[in-house]
Amino acid sequence: MKKTLTLFLACAFAAALPFVSGAQEVVPLRGEIGIDEVNEAPPTVRLRSGRPLPRAYRQQPPLIPHRIAGYQIDLRVNKCLSCHDWPNNVEEGAPKISETHYVDRNGVALDHVARNRWFCTQCHVPQTNAPSLVENVFRNAKDLR
Ligand code: HEC
Ligand code: HEC
Repeated sequence: MKKTLTLFLACAFAAALPFVSGAQEVVPLRGEIGIDEVNEAPPTVRLRSGRPLPRAYRQQPPLIPHRIAGYQIDLRVNKCLSCHDWPNNVEEGAPKISETHYVDRNGVALDHVARNRWFCTQCHVPQTNAPSLVENVFRNAKDLR
């Protein structure tokens, strides 16, 4: 009985060792910089304005194929709506925001953008050629067939 317990403890210790010794170092994306230090800004990337890039999967928020610098979004103002909200989109020739964006979290259809879709850039980002920050091996379902 005693022997079994000793063996068990030895195994448990061996299993825990990698965690104790920190075998897997975690390097944050901002680099090895102290919390109270300011890191260098990453290099700016060229935006790919113009032709919209295709979506990688059906539910993907489409990338923004134009510049958005200076387009204000705060609690009261949302510049994106001046082109993308109905009926402005007709005059501006811009794609109308998705119908899903007019449904609130309780499933009620509204005549204005739902508050949970207000901050567009939470989900939509301008398209760029920026290198991936972390490795991404995503393949869409169609490619797997
Ligand atoms: C001055 C008008 C204007 C403003 C303001 C504007 N957009 Fe656009 N946006 C357009 C037009 C026009 C297109 C279509 C471009 C194309 O298809 O080549 C477009 C395309 C898009 C698309 C791609 C849609 C798709 O189905 O591929 C997204 C996403 C988008 N805009 C998001 C935004 C967001 C977010 C903002 C605010 C930060 C914004 N836009 C502000 C005019 C505007
Ligand atoms: C919570 C995430 C989220 C937010 C916030 C959000 N969107 Fe979207 N958007 C999506 C997703 C996901 C899609 C694609 C699926 C769909 O149509 O619902 C989409 C689709 C779109 C499309 C394409 C519509 C089409 O029919 O092709 C436009 C344009 C767009 N959004 C603009 C906006 C604008 C402008 C805002 C801010 C007012 C906004 N979105 C806020 C996630 C979001």
